[in-house]
Amino acid sequence: MAKVLYAVVVYVVLVFFVNFGESIKWLSLQQSHLQWNLSSLNNNPGRGIRSGVRSPCTIARRRYGFVKIQAKLCRHSMEVMPHVQAAAVLASETCRSVFMNRRWNCSSIFMAPFLPPDLTRATREQAYVYAISSAALTYTMARACSSGALYHCTCASKPPAVPNGQFQWGGCGDNVQWGAQFTRRFIDNVEKHTLEKRSKEITDSKKVVKMQSDEAVGTNAVAAVNLHNNRVGRKVMVESLRTQCKCHGVSGSCNIKTCWKALPPMSEIGVRLLEKYTNAIKVYGDAFGEIIPEKTAKRVKKAASTQLLVYISKSPDYCTKDDKLGSFGTVGRQCNVSTSGPESCRQLCCGRGYRTVVDEKIERCQCKFYNCCYVKCQICRTKTQVYECL
Ligand SMILES: *[C@@H]1O[C@H](CO)[C@@H](O)[C@H](O)[C@H]1NC(C)=O
Ligand SMILES: *[C@@H]1O[C@H](CO)[C@@H](O)[C@H](O)[C@H]1NC(C)=O
Ligand SMILES: *[C@@H]1O[C@H](CO)[C@@H](O)[C@H](O)[C@H]1NC(C)=O
Repeated sequence: MAKVLYAVVVYVVLVFFVNFGESIKWLSLQQSHLQWNLSSLNNNPGRGIRSGVRSPCTIARRRYGFVKIQAKLCRHSMEVMPHVQAAAVLASETCRSVFMNRRWNCSSIFMAPFLPPDLTRATREQAYVYAISSAALTYTMARACSSGALYHCTCASKPPAVPNGQFQWGGCGDNVQWGAQFTRRFIDNVEKHTLEKRSKEITDSKKVVKMQSDEAVGTNAVAAVNLHNNRVGRKVMVESLRTQCKCHGVSGSCNIKTCWKALPPMSEIGVRLLEKYTNAIKVYGDAFGEIIPEKTAKRVKKAASTQLLVYISKSPDYCTKDDKLGSFGTVGRQCNVSTSGPESCRQLCCGRGYRTVVDEKIERCQCKFYNCCYVKCQICRTKTQVYECL
């Protein structure tokens, strides 16, 4: 029975044109200056497109990769859109700073709405980008709720757990629940839509399901993997909530303490997801969007797989430029000669070696105050050596 199942666990080549990875194209908002005004729509409720009014949602659909579902949600609740835009910036900046010194440095995220192959082939890197996007959107919305910026939501409801210390729940907790719910609607629904549509097409037309090489990845498998990684991103958010407290009482005493659940800085979430990226597991995805760990024989437990990021295609080493794989190569990247981590010249330059470039800076220095208000400086030349991969 299991073998039959495995026979079905194959990659599907779909003969029609497919658009991978549509649900993260909104990350391109990071580079936009869209004004999310309600006024243009209020004159014409719900008829932004047909009436010829260029609503920001229409522009987002045309230029910033919003898919239909997202544009609809945008028109329906436009006041949240500035926060979506902020989430795009947050996701990109977090990803970039976490991967800054690595061979793959998250630069492809800046090409959105165009997505290079490293973000469409269901790679480990794609897994990270989906998870961080989902996390960043949840984060931004949860914070927007608790800061009172949205009228759809307020502070998080009080945790069910009875406090064990000398405190009571109060204050205003970050509303991760609302944030996660919005993220499911804005991102996950796009992938779910893809899954449903393709599954139906396969069932209807009985298209030939072919065994394919590692490189040919079926749309449904990718959608299922994306959905999983989105969930991981949100789960990390929920798990990162921590209790923060404030004391009240006469003259600084802590007679009354109120506590609430708050999120840590996003950089912390980025690092947690990096661990999940490092430990990501390879899976098969079947035509109907089931994810099955490749090493079932080694008993990768299903429970474990829900905690980790998953991917389908093996990543290249990102050492040399290869447009087909979405690898930019590391020629010319700055490396560090005195470390042994991913940023070291050894690893970053992939054994090709490096050259030393002398960087001269001219600065004002050794500044001294004379009398009260007069500053005199000297001109200093500082030479630093930087190392660049060959
Ligand atoms: C939209 O808002 C900006 C400022 O936030 C304003 O300058 C602009 O005129 C507004 N546009 C419309 C169409 O109301
Ligand atoms: C990221 O890597 C690309 C390709 O190697 C490079 O062009 C770019 O400058 C890098 N970005 C940063 C911030 O190091
Ligand atoms: C190289 O690594 C060392 C040790 O971590 C660090 O002190 C130094 O600032 C790094 N150099 C550069 C150019 O990043």
